[in-house]
Amino acid sequence: MSDPVPQRILVEAAGLKKTYRVGDRSVEVLRGVDLRVHAGEFLALRGASGAGKSTLLHLLGGLDVPDAGRIVFDGEVLTGRGLSALARFRNRRVGFIFQAYHLMPDLTALENVSLPARVNRMGFEPARDRAKTLLERVGLGARLTHRPNQLSGGEQQRVAIARCLVNRPDLILADEPTGNLDSRTGDGVLELLLELRAEHGMTLVVATHDGHVSGRAGREVQLIDGLVGT
Ligand SMILES: Nc1ncnc2c1ncn2[C@@H]1O[C@H](COP(=O)(O)OP(=O)(O)OP(=O)(O)O)[C@@H](O)[C@H]1O
Ligand SMILES: [Mg+2]
Repeated sequence: MSDPVPQRILVEAAGLKKTYRVGDRSVEVLRGVDLRVHAGEFLALRGASGAGKSTLLHLLGGLDVPDAGRIVFDGEVLTGRGLSALARFRNRRVGFIFQAYHLMPDLTALENVSLPARVNRMGFEPARDRAKTLLERVGLGARLTHRPNQLSGGEQQRVAIARCLVNRPDLILADEPTGNLDSRTGDGVLELLLELRAEHGMTLVVATHDGHVSGRAGREVQLIDGLVGT
């Protein structure tokens, strides 16, 4: 028998620490988090409100930096990079989906989805065409020129999903992606995310309170007292 093929690690976090300071108070949120995310897996990140799930997602995707520890993404050390290098890394390799969608209010759906591709120096027409294809894929072909306030919550989240895919990221980090949606719409958004993950072979890490969401994950980890347990 040959040895099993080792699973490729896409992201490895080791000894991550994060403390927030507000005035003279400090909150030690992450106290030495170790976590490995394998390429292609769907990992659910659970933990009580305030446990540090959003904080950890932000660190993994380079939206924020840890006080200590290190993050290796696809063999490259992220920790210690400057802010502009981190921004370039995020734009190319990571797609974020937030509970509150975080779309640009003055831009249409099409413009919101094409923006990260334009930032990544894709030409206007290819970016627009790709955005249109993705919006059609998420069922919003008839909403291309709607602005966020002209879309329902579920539609806005689908725009955010299309946007996070535009630069073909390796990793999708979703922070309570169904938290603002009724359960039926949330189920639809989850199914869509899972279908797209299967089509594009992306790695998915989802912070969630929703047992329905974590029930679909291949693996679940808990953040407790600033550390990761299983
Ligand atoms: N920018 C900040 N400044 C100060 N404290 C912060 C900041 N962001 C988060 N915190 C604190 O850090 C802790 C962890 O917050 P975080 O948002 O990561 O939790 P969470 O697990 O995502 O919670 P929820 O399930 O409610 O989204 C909380 O106690 C919060 O008050
Ligand atoms: Mg959170």
